[in-house]
Amino acid sequence: MNKIAVAGTGYVGLVAGVCFAEKGHQVTCVDIDERKVELMKSGKSPIYEEGLEELMRKNYAADRLEYTTDYVAAYQDADAIFIGVGTPELADGSANLSYIATVARQIAESVEKDCLVVVKSTVPVGTNDKVEQFIQDFLLKDVRVEVASNPEFLAQGSAVHDTLYADRIIIGTESKWAENILMEIYKPFNLPIVPVNRRSAEMIKYASNDFLALKISYMNDIANLCELVGADIQDVAKGMSFDDRIGNKFLNAGIGYGGSCFPKDTKALDYIAKQQGYDLKTVKAAIDVNTDQKTVLFKKARNRLITLSGLKVAVLGLTFKPGTDDLREAASLENVPLLLEQGANIYAFDPVGRDNFEKVYPEGQHGTGSITYVDSPQKALDNANVCFIFTEWGEVKALSPSDYKNLMRTPLVFDGRNIYSVLNMEEAAVEYHSIGRKATQRVKKESLKNDLQTSR
Ligand code: UDX
Repeated sequence: MNKIAVAGTGYVGLVAGVCFAEKGHQVTCVDIDERKVELMKSGKSPIYEEGLEELMRKNYAADRLEYTTDYVAAYQDADAIFIGVGTPELADGSANLSYIATVARQIAESVEKDCLVVVKSTVPVGTNDKVEQFIQDFLLKDVRVEVASNPEFLAQGSAVHDTLYADRIIIGTESKWAENILMEIYKPFNLPIVPVNRRSAEMIKYASNDFLALKISYMNDIANLCELVGADIQDVAKGMSFDDRIGNKFLNAGIGYGGSCFPKDTKALDYIAKQQGYDLKTVKAAIDVNTDQKTVLFKKARNRLITLSGLKVAVLGLTFKPGTDDLREAASLENVPLLLEQGANIYAFDPVGRDNFEKVYPEGQHGTGSITYVDSPQKALDNANVCFIFTEWGEVKALSPSDYKNLMRTPLVFDGRNIYSVLNMEEAAVEYHSIGRKATQRVKKESLKNDLQTSR
């Protein structure tokens, strides 16, 4: 059992802290936000993540997990301090390291015994060398403090599972002493551990995330070409997936990748390369394709309808993927303003992302368009002229092709997640446009025409 402090209770910090406690360590999670700390003490998670609250309550009750704003008390006698604070993207694509610097200073002024500082946050290669120097410069006591890199690979929506059953644990250290501490902390996880030096560990995080982003952008690029040449991206992906060298994951074409990692980490690595005078062409291409992909559906709709003014538009899914309430870099944030600008009357459904979205787009009129939030996909589709699918939530996938046909005024569907079989939609007489696959037959536009005319 080790005494562990965790700085920052966002996705990375809180999930790591809870999982360390679950594996028997004594953990104190530190956050500057008093309200958040009180919330967590009451057994509630500030983020929506399956299975997290159960583990929070269980380990809190077992006295293995504490929450505090008192960082001095948490850091002074810790064996290891994990840093999981954010490194948000700055305007130029570089990472904002001010939160890390603040925590590093607090650590330097608080520690009273030898301790390993472990950076989980994604940081540019070489940052942890600087963090170590920074801590040494401000250290008040004569104790040994080193910095290790231990990047995090959890995906939102499956964060607890991804941490407890990770494919690998990367530990980047500059001494046997640091390596041994991390080996001991991770021993109860019983997972493959890859010990490397600190800079390689920092690079592994970017290289892994950007590779996945590249894989998605590649499939989106190929999908767009499939449409032009009459091939079907799902069949193409299936055919590719039998090659072990390619694998069968992350081959789904769609409306572009979103979230807190891929967009940020691709831009950060591009920035790092630029600083070195190196042109990182592959990653730049992934970014370009993704930017265009986010509005590919909207462009299809506009080409088909000329205008969406006055139409009732169902929007199914707002978050960047299912299983999270996170909207960061979600396709909905690109498309909803375009639809509103067109004068569309949006009826939006999302099982958990609604509150966050409502903060950005409150219910009501926005210029000539409007947005209304509903609590079921059926209510969104009811009498709608057009439907956009941005997130493949279970509630959306549960709809059958005939639901679109029966509920909508004109069954005209633009699916950014390729949820349905083109054939089934065709059989249900739904006009269906998706990504990298052929569109089905056109519906008669009589009612659309009337609706468009009345709106003029
Ligand atoms: C990702 C990585 O998976 C994780 O290892 C890393 O630590 C953080 O970034 P996350 O952003 O939570 O996790 O979600 P992920 O499930 O990877 O999806 C990211 C985006 O890619 C989503 O918008 C998703 O819809 C999209 N995606 C994913 C595709 O468009 N196609 C795919 O085949 C897979």
